[in-house]
Amino acid sequence: MKSNIQNNNYLLEIENLKVYFSTVLGTAYAVDDISFKIRRGQAVALVGESGCGKTVTALSILRLLHTPPLSHLSGRIKFEGRDLITLSEEEMRRVRGRHISMVFQEPMSSLNPVFRVGDQIADVMKMHFGMTKEESFGKIEKVMEWVGITDPHMRLRQYPYELSGGLVQRVMIAMAVVCEPKLLIADEPTTALDVTIQAEILKLLRRIKHEKEMSVLLISHDLSVVARIAEWVVVLYAGKKVEEGSSTVIYAKPTHPYTKALFDALPAKSGGKKRLNTIPGSVPLTTEPPKGCRFHPRCPSAMHICEVKEPPWIQLSPEQGNACWLYAGEEIKT
Ligand SMILES: Nc1ncnc2c1ncn2[C@@H]1O[C@H](COP(=O)(O)OP(=O)(O)OP(=O)(O)O)[C@@H](O)[C@H]1O
Ligand code: SF4
Ligand SMILES: [Mg+2]
Repeated sequence: MKSNIQNNNYLLEIENLKVYFSTVLGTAYAVDDISFKIRRGQAVALVGESGCGKTVTALSILRLLHTPPLSHLSGRIKFEGRDLITLSEEEMRRVRGRHISMVFQEPMSSLNPVFRVGDQIADVMKMHFGMTKEESFGKIEKVMEWVGITDPHMRLRQYPYELSGGLVQRVMIAMAVVCEPKLLIADEPTTALDVTIQAEILKLLRRIKHEKEMSVLLISHDLSVVARIAEWVVVLYAGKKVEEGSSTVIYAKPTHPYTKALFDALPAKSGGKKRLNTIPGSVPLTTEPPKGCRFHPRCPSAMHICEVKEPPWIQLSPEQGNACWLYAGEEIKT
C-alpha cells in the first residue's frame, strides 16, 4: 500500500484547522489544530467517540458553519491547491455538491419532506449544469439504478416519507454522486441502519470509490465500519488528532492509548460478554478541555507530564504517527 506521506498527489490538505464556537458556557474548542490529507481516489476515515469533532471538521470543509455560533475558523483547507477558507460564498456554492459532496449524519433531515426525491436531485443538476427537470431525469434514473434503487422511474416520483431508511440513504448517496464529485464525505452513513442494510451501503460506497475513482472521507465512531473502506485512518479525541496511519498498520498495531481503547470496545474484543467493553469516563466538554493531553483523565498510562503539557506530534514511521508522551523520543529521522 502506498504511503500517504510519500505520495504528493493530494486532493485535500487540511492544515492546522481550528473551529471554535461561542456558547453560553464559553468558547467551545470543537476542532483544535487538526491536520490530515486525502489522496485522489483514497478513502480516509475520521474516527472517534461522540463529540470529538468529526462532523464539525466535515462541515468546515464545505464551509457550512456560520457566525454565530461559529466564532473562529482558521488554518488551511486546500482542495486541489485552492484554500477553501479564502473562497467567497459564491465560489463555495460552485464547489459544494459539484466537486465535494456530503451524505449527512441525519439523512431524513437533509431531504425536504414536501418535495419528491427526483425533484430534489434535479435541483442539484439544475444548479451545477443548468439542466431542466426533463433533461436531468434520465441521468437521475441511471444514477439511482447504479446505487441499487430498483424501479427508479417510480421512486423518483415518491416523497421521502414513502421510502425505507435504507432507500433514503441510497437516495442521499445518489444525490451526492450525481454530479460526480471528486470528494464524497459520508458522515456516519450506516449508523441508523440495520446490519444487513449497513453491509449493503458499505459495499456501495466501496464500489463508488473504485468505479468513479472518487476520494472518500468516511466519518464513523465504529472501527469495524472503517475497516471495510478506509485505507488511512485519522483518530480524533476532544478536537485533537491523536493518531493517524495506514489502516493496515493501525489495525495491526495501534499505539495511542485512546486508539487501543477504541479497539478494545469493539464487540469482537468483548469476548462474547453480554456487556461490551467500554472506555471509562466520557469525552470532556469542548468548553473545558483538560490541560496537557486531553485524554489524560481517562488514560490508564497517564504520567505527570500528561497533565501539564500537550504531547507533540510524533511521526513513528511513514505509515503511522501519534500524539502521546509514551512515544517521545521514538520519532523517525527523516
Ligand atoms: N453549532 C454548534 N455550537 C456549539 N457547539 C457545537 C456546535 N456544533 C458542534 N459543537 C460542539 O463541537 C464538538 C464536536 O461536535 P461534532 O458534531 O463534530 O462531534 P462528532 O464527532 O461528529 O460527534 P457524533 O459522533 O456525536 O456525531 C461537540 O462538543 C459539540 O457540542
Ligand atoms: S500523552 Fe499521556 S495521557 Fe495522553 S495518551 Fe499518552 S500516556 Fe495517556
Ligand atoms: Mg457527528
